[in-house]
Amino acid sequence: MRRGILSAPWRAADVWERGDNVLQHIRAIEGLGHNTEDAVRISYDLQAGTYVANAARADCARALDTFAGAVARELDALGPCGSLLDVGVGEATSLVPLLRKWTPGPALIHGCDLSWSRLSVARSYCEEGGVAERVTLAMAPMSALPYADDSFDTVVTMHALEPNGGRERELIAELHRVASRWLVLFEPDYEGATESARARMREHGYCRGLADHARALGFDVRVSRPLVPAISETNPTAVTIIAKNALARSAAPVFVCPRLGAPLVRLQDCYYCPESLLAYPVLGGIACLGADHGILASRLSRTLEEAAMASAGGRRL
Ligand SMILES: C[S@@+](CC[C@H](N)C(=O)[O-])C[C@H]1O[C@@H](n2cnc3c(N)ncnc32)[C@H](O)[C@@H]1O
Repeated sequence: MRRGILSAPWRAADVWERGDNVLQHIRAIEGLGHNTEDAVRISYDLQAGTYVANAARADCARALDTFAGAVARELDALGPCGSLLDVGVGEATSLVPLLRKWTPGPALIHGCDLSWSRLSVARSYCEEGGVAERVTLAMAPMSALPYADDSFDTVVTMHALEPNGGRERELIAELHRVASRWLVLFEPDYEGATESARARMREHGYCRGLADHARALGFDVRVSRPLVPAISETNPTAVTIIAKNALARSAAPVFVCPRLGAPLVRLQDCYYCPESLLAYPVLGGIACLGADHGILASRLSRTLEEAAMASAGGRRL
């Protein structure tokens, strides 16, 4: 059984409130050499709302706008994109300005993140930004994305691999699995950073060497260079573009059971997998699609059968 702060996330709230770095604190007391997904979830969930609050400041809004413009230019240069997955979407403070800059941009957009609280903030931010109709949000870890292989024309991360140093290969492989044409990483430029910026990145457990990891996996790395213009000196961004298949995806992406990989059916308050018999709750409008969110609910198969019979003109429900 797991012990310590990772199984009692509320104990990290004090650390956050006194202004200490939650990830560093968890690594130290758990004796970890890297940030686990549980630790990342705790750290980011406690920060929920801070990105949107910052985005309301004029200087931050300008920086986000410049970043979004640079990201839009890179993505636009790859040709038409029908579907996009933004992994580690956070509060959507990069996604919303990106969709403003990238026209026409993709019609179908999914965003997922480890933290429910940040997704809940993202939901409102997408509504205020007028893009909620195009964006579907889900809670899921990057290590087990709830989508079939080749689901999205383009999969993108924007400083989301960032805290996952030490797990780069595993995560790049999973991102690549669900991409159909392109995997584009906008992540910390460790290699191009100053020595003091590198020291900070090491201290925080940031990812490094993404292009080398992707090549070691046998992937087709087309671009690996600093993003221009640079937005931050302490946390500069590099763009890594990995090509996959030549063909665009035609079908709309659907959620699959993170345990079994079979398609999920939307019911009133959950996504249900008739094959695994697991129901994944929809909390505050956000589907919770981590493997550990599944609830055994075999009775829902009966509900589905009854609905099918009713729509075929059989027995009334
Ligand atoms: C630095 S924030 C960036 C958020 C957003 N992409 C943006 O540009 O504003 C990193 C985000 O990635 C998410 N994240 C980090 N590691 C993750 C993982 N392994 N699986 C899913 N989400 C992850 C965090 O929860 C957080 O919301």
